[in-house]
Amino acid sequence: MKGRILSGMRPTGQLHLGHLVGALQNWVNMQNEYECFYMVADWHALMSEYNNSENISKFGVDNVIDWIACGVDPEKNTIFIQSAVPEHTELHMVLSCITPLGWLERCPTYKEQLKELEQKEINTYAFLGYPVLQTADIILYKANVVPVGEDQLPHLELAREIVRRFHFIFKREIFPEPAAKLTQAPRLLGLDSRKMSKSYGNYISLSEKPEDVRKKIMTMITDPARIKRTDKGHPDVCNVFSYYKIFAPEKSAGVEIACKEAQIGCTDCKKNLADIIISILQPVYEKRRKLTENPEKIHEILRNGADKARKIAIETMKEVRYTALGK
Ligand code: TRP
Ligand code: SF4
Repeated sequence: MKGRILSGMRPTGQLHLGHLVGALQNWVNMQNEYECFYMVADWHALMSEYNNSENISKFGVDNVIDWIACGVDPEKNTIFIQSAVPEHTELHMVLSCITPLGWLERCPTYKEQLKELEQKEINTYAFLGYPVLQTADIILYKANVVPVGEDQLPHLELAREIVRRFHFIFKREIFPEPAAKLTQAPRLLGLDSRKMSKSYGNYISLSEKPEDVRKKIMTMITDPARIKRTDKGHPDVCNVFSYYKIFAPEKSAGVEIACKEAQIGCTDCKKNLADIIISILQPVYEKRRKLTENPEKIHEILRNGADKARKIAIETMKEVRYTALGK
């Protein structure tokens, strides 16, 4: 039997190239090997966006369009929206009963996020419990594998601890301990070489128009020591070069030499990169356009996904109710 995967994304904005190389390409690669559940984590989005929540569902649908446009196959995978399956919040409540506060307060992601998002007032009851809802997401489907980036590892560790505690307290083992599948996603920096982030606006979205892709790439900072066209470059300190390594690895050796020998200027080097990115996004645009022209199709995919997910979720909750309440 195939392993089961659950993964999710918070619908807090448009998806960009960072999501493509950081998550979506992995999702696509896993869809043949595993039974995959891909979820729009809209309740998780609400935890940080409750002050401007009016776009959460619009972003959710838009993100799903991007997932599919990037190759996530709705026939092979179960694609759904978290809030369409109410059992997530129900299981979250049960897990909340057994999760010690200290585990959550100690969680490194919690401490970091609080600092980073100070202006967002996320010092709330729900936000502390973010990993508890995430655990519910995973074990509701008895997923045994969760693809995660390095930053999510503490959440997976917590999920396993919560599962063990559930079994210990209620004296019945009903969940697999979910294993983290560390995806070796390359870390894509923003166009300005800072961390790629919505608040910096330093990214290329998956629906960016070709002419805007070009404009944005032309603003990228290159090797600061390369002032004249004849100066030899240092690709290892150039963000443009790091994009080559990720998006056109087969060309990067050539670019490296040409740069070090000053055979190519930065303007041309960036023009070529823009061509590469545009050609990667071309099929995504086309699929996106077809999907946006037919919104009923997306809604049907999401309805089917929620139905499939919910069948499993209801069964799990029966077991949970029986195990925790004896009924
Ligand atoms: N926390 C994840 C993120 O920020 C989103 C998420 C919610 C998730 N539930 C999940 C990821 C369950 C994996 C499994 O990206
Ligand atoms: Fe960067 Fe290319 Fe310029 Fe070299 S030639 S510094 S790799 S942009």
